[in-house]
Amino acid sequence: MKSLEQERRRIAELFDIAPSRVLHALAVLGVADLVGPDGTGAQALEEELGLGRENLWRLLRAAEALGVLTVDAEGGVRLLTAGTLLKTDHPGSLRAEFSDNALFTAWGPFVDCLRNGTPSYELSHGAPIFARMDDSPEELRQFHEHMRVRATQLYRPLLPHLLERCADDPVDLGGGTGGLSVLLLDASPTLQVTLTDLPAVIELIPETVRNAYPGRLVLSTGDMFTTVPAAHGTYLLGSVLHDWSDVRASELLTRCARALPEHGEIILLERVLDETGPDTRRMSDMWMMAMTGGRERSESEWAALARRSGLELREVHHGSGELAAITLSLPGADTTVHLKESAR
Ligand SMILES: C[S@@+](CC[C@H](N)C(=O)[O-])C[C@H]1O[C@@H](n2cnc3c(N)ncnc32)[C@H](O)[C@@H]1O
Repeated sequence: MKSLEQERRRIAELFDIAPSRVLHALAVLGVADLVGPDGTGAQALEEELGLGRENLWRLLRAAEALGVLTVDAEGGVRLLTAGTLLKTDHPGSLRAEFSDNALFTAWGPFVDCLRNGTPSYELSHGAPIFARMDDSPEELRQFHEHMRVRATQLYRPLLPHLLERCADDPVDLGGGTGGLSVLLLDASPTLQVTLTDLPAVIELIPETVRNAYPGRLVLSTGDMFTTVPAAHGTYLLGSVLHDWSDVRASELLTRCARALPEHGEIILLERVLDETGPDTRRMSDMWMMAMTGGRERSESEWAALARRSGLELREVHHGSGELAAITLSLPGADTTVHLKESAR
């Protein structure tokens, strides 16, 4: 059993915001990119970053204390494994996520959010997250850079399952700038993906992506709460429903259910929380409450949400990663008709 003193230290460490801010500063300043594979000198960093010597030195020593890099007596700086994850081009890069400051500054009024139910983001920034980002191009760009990298990392472990289950014409609803769509299109030459999102988000999709899949990537703009493209075999919603309360999520799912052909499926890529016990992913639930007014859900909560939307939860596939693929269909539907033989 831990002593009271150990518990005091543990909980004080959890409370400390400084490590998060140091990682944010390293990400924004691009320190890991500047250090490079062979290390660099603090002097070179000082010139590149334009920080005063004293402040740079203190930041580097703090980063060393977090196990991100090492600083030797001559001022030589080297990245440790955790530090390489702050590099822009690392396949598991956390740089975009850690640079996203608007999400962190939104935590200020969190207690008021708990008291009155308005998301902390809205209380802090004056508008709901997606509405505000629509008017703030830099914030929108940064958020979607973070989402695109996150999508590639979190959805990849589910890709084999998705390729087995997807009809030839899936819709990537609220697909952002295409992290999931690109994974699917790269993996299967026969898929034609319809990617939908708000107009300002679709505009951010780079030309290289638009031109990479002639005739196979269809871009569609609109508010998913009023328009969902009809009659596609599979509707994919990657990290979309956790943005919304049960009432709003059910409105959206009901709309999807109406668009769904008889044998079609809706596949949610989401966290599935433990029903009881100290699941650390409860912190993601707090993030959703604070940022969007949404929530993370357990399997029984996903099943209840499906039922209230006129749907049935058919399967929860837990991949090797953090997210699961949750399949919903119309009650009693035979959803095997479009499946490849191996998946029936
Ligand atoms: C958390 S992001 C997930 C993006 C993407 N599916 C992914 O996993 O990377 C939620 C997405 O829903 C989109 N969205 C929010 N409100 C929307 C609306 N009313 N109509 C269409 N898309 C919307 C956002 O623009 C954003 O791209």
